[in-house]
Amino acid sequence: MKFPHDFLFGAASASYQIEGAWNEDGKGLTNWDVFSKIPGKTYKGTNGDVAIDHYHRYKEDIKLMAEMGLESYRFSISWARILPTGDGEVNDKGLEFYNNVINECLKYGIVPFVTLYHWDLPITLEEDGGWTNKRTAEAFIKYAEVCFRAFGDRVKHWITFNETVMFCGLGYLKGAHPPGIQNDENKYFQATHYVFYAHAKAVEVYKEMNHYGEIGITHVFLPAFSVDDRHENVVAARHANEYETLWYYDPILKGEYPSYVVEQLKEKGWTPSWTEEELATLKRNAGKNDFIGLNYYQPIRVEKNNETVSSMEHSRETSTLAPGNPSFDGFYRTVKMEDKTYTKWGWEISPQGFIDGLHMLKERYGDIKMYVTENGLGDEDPIIDGEIVDVPRIKYIEEHLKVIKRAIKEGIHLKGYYAWSVIDLLSWLNGYKKQYGFIYVDQQNNLNRKKKLSFHWYKHIIETRGEEL
Ligand code: NOJ
Repeated sequence: MKFPHDFLFGAASASYQIEGAWNEDGKGLTNWDVFSKIPGKTYKGTNGDVAIDHYHRYKEDIKLMAEMGLESYRFSISWARILPTGDGEVNDKGLEFYNNVINECLKYGIVPFVTLYHWDLPITLEEDGGWTNKRTAEAFIKYAEVCFRAFGDRVKHWITFNETVMFCGLGYLKGAHPPGIQNDENKYFQATHYVFYAHAKAVEVYKEMNHYGEIGITHVFLPAFSVDDRHENVVAARHANEYETLWYYDPILKGEYPSYVVEQLKEKGWTPSWTEEELATLKRNAGKNDFIGLNYYQPIRVEKNNETVSSMEHSRETSTLAPGNPSFDGFYRTVKMEDKTYTKWGWEISPQGFIDGLHMLKERYGDIKMYVTENGLGDEDPIIDGEIVDVPRIKYIEEHLKVIKRAIKEGIHLKGYYAWSVIDLLSWLNGYKKQYGFIYVDQQNNLNRKKKLSFHWYKHIIETRGEEL
């Protein structure tokens, strides 16, 4: 069986991780431009000032994508290039850059799939409270509208936000991402609420503009499974799913927050301040989402945490990035299991977890359209005789594409797959140590691009529409 003819084979990137040109052509400063330069925040102090210089090399990069046969390219727009102060004047040079990128994609028949917010926030907004201030949500709606107007004739696939759990969790609980705040549950839940509100409004604005394209949001997909059948662990896994998944998916797809979490937030004093109008906005627009994007890397294995966790030990990152520590509210812990396989960075490799999770989503939300907006393997790629032989990456993607094919057969409405990442790029915290791309970027030698083994493999998969999988 081949993949359906309208299934998109793609790959993804994000502005801060590839563009560089941090202060060129009128771009405003972002939270990441500032945060990454605080000593100790990133591995060896790496930052996105140059990144992989895609801003100047986009033509070369998109040409390579075309050679790979890529059908669709997911990339993000840097808000501060378009609106340097967040909600002030529009910067024409910023519009011009993305017009060029979009037109270059279209020249090769590559479908642009655009993310509006992949974590780089204009610093003016961050300094005014970032996502905990409603001004940021309102500014986002304006920014989204500017983009729909400028690019909507050619961009027909829009993602509002990428991975809210990550930028809010790492920003307000763990302190590992900007604004670098730790253990502030009130700010964390408030920020997530304003993001969902901004998303709902942006969907509404987009639909009113009648562009005849589609719009959705991308979430981390982190299905939680109990380590065994013991009641307390099953309850712990449910708790994890409520906080890690339903809190994010329900407001988008049902237009309301999961009552289990809402009740607990009341008890804990963590309820965001939300107005009737904001809640009504979520409700009114829930049915208007065209799809949900899933970034799937791994599931989590959960057990009840029977140790007391002091508030200093709260850790968001641990639940989403490195299993083995208690959740932020200390109720459950994520553990590694002997019979599972893990990457060098300790991320579980579980295509089965993905398909099981997809069925869980279908059960709760019905037949929603979905895209895999990220999936891939972070690795230190082996180089043999100058060739990058990234066999583990091929194997990883192959296994996941196989289950995606199976899922489609089983009635899951999946319309595309975007490998993370199209090209080696800057990792937010880890510099260039761990890579995900089909295209290698030589850090020692003028950032030269080179095709990896996986490049040729993915080209073949696309050409044959995955028939051999
Ligand atoms: C998710 C994020 O969207 C992306 O920016 C990041 O680099 C990858 N995961 C890998 O961690």
